[in-house]
Amino acid sequence: MAAVFFGVVILQVLTSVLSFPSGAPASTCVDMMPRHGGILPQPNPAPYTIQTSSATLQPGQPITVVIKGPDYSGVLLEARSGSDTKALGTWQTPPSNTKFLECSGNQQGAITHANTNIKNNSTVYTWIPPATAKSIFFMATIAQQRSVFWVNVKSPTLTQTGGGTSLDVNNSAGRTATPVLILLVVLMANVHCLVA
Ligand SMILES: *[C@@H]1O[C@H](CO)[C@@H](O)[C@H](O)[C@H]1NC(C)=O
Ligand SMILES: *[C@@H]1O[C@H](CO)[C@@H](O)[C@H](O)[C@H]1NC(C)=O
Ligand SMILES: *[C@@H]1O[C@H](CO)[C@@H](O)[C@H](O)[C@H]1NC(C)=O
Repeated sequence: MAAVFFGVVILQVLTSVLSFPSGAPASTCVDMMPRHGGILPQPNPAPYTIQTSSATLQPGQPITVVIKGPDYSGVLLEARSGSDTKALGTWQTPPSNTKFLECSGNQQGAITHANTNIKNNSTVYTWIPPATAKSIFFMATIAQQRSVFWVNVKSPTLTQTGGGTSLDVNNSAGRTATPVLILLVVLMANVHCLVA
């Protein structure tokens, strides 16, 4: 009897989606799958969407991210590119009841819950793109309660705009062309002097 009781207790601990009430462990960085033998994710589509403050990326320009949908208690949030599982960019000061999780050697590579307190659409995450990012999306595992969670919740893909507006492109082309032209003229004048 005692053995059965302990077995049940251990199973319950293992199967709780929030078996890590103080946040997802680093072992979940890659597959973003809560470890709880037996309990499967809810089928997608999730009742959640990930909304971003911008549809485009500019290196160094912060982007805010909000998870819209029912209140949730557990979260694991990363920015990724393509099929790469590396957690990209730098999350900024985590909102209340959340914290950083080091993923891919990046200390601010992911955000997870710090406790089981309610998070909702007032919970705003801020992220800064890496200089090299051309195209990224946000990916989350979201737990509504102990045994109800969704994996693979994705935002639309954000792409880096081609280095500014067309006006900037034309201007910078003009700015580059003029000095190059002057340099050429000076060089040719010098060559002419040397030859002469
Ligand atoms: C979000 O949750 C917090 C804490 O539970 C609560 O104070 C706030 O009113 C909620 N906001 C919305 C928009 O539901
Ligand atoms: C946030 O959630 C609350 C409660 O679920 C909802 O009434 C409100 O419209 C939501 N706000 C936004 C901006 O989605
Ligand atoms: C920039 O240059 C391109 C091609 O030279 C031109 O089609 C476009 O209208 C220019 N844009 C502006 C804002 O001047």
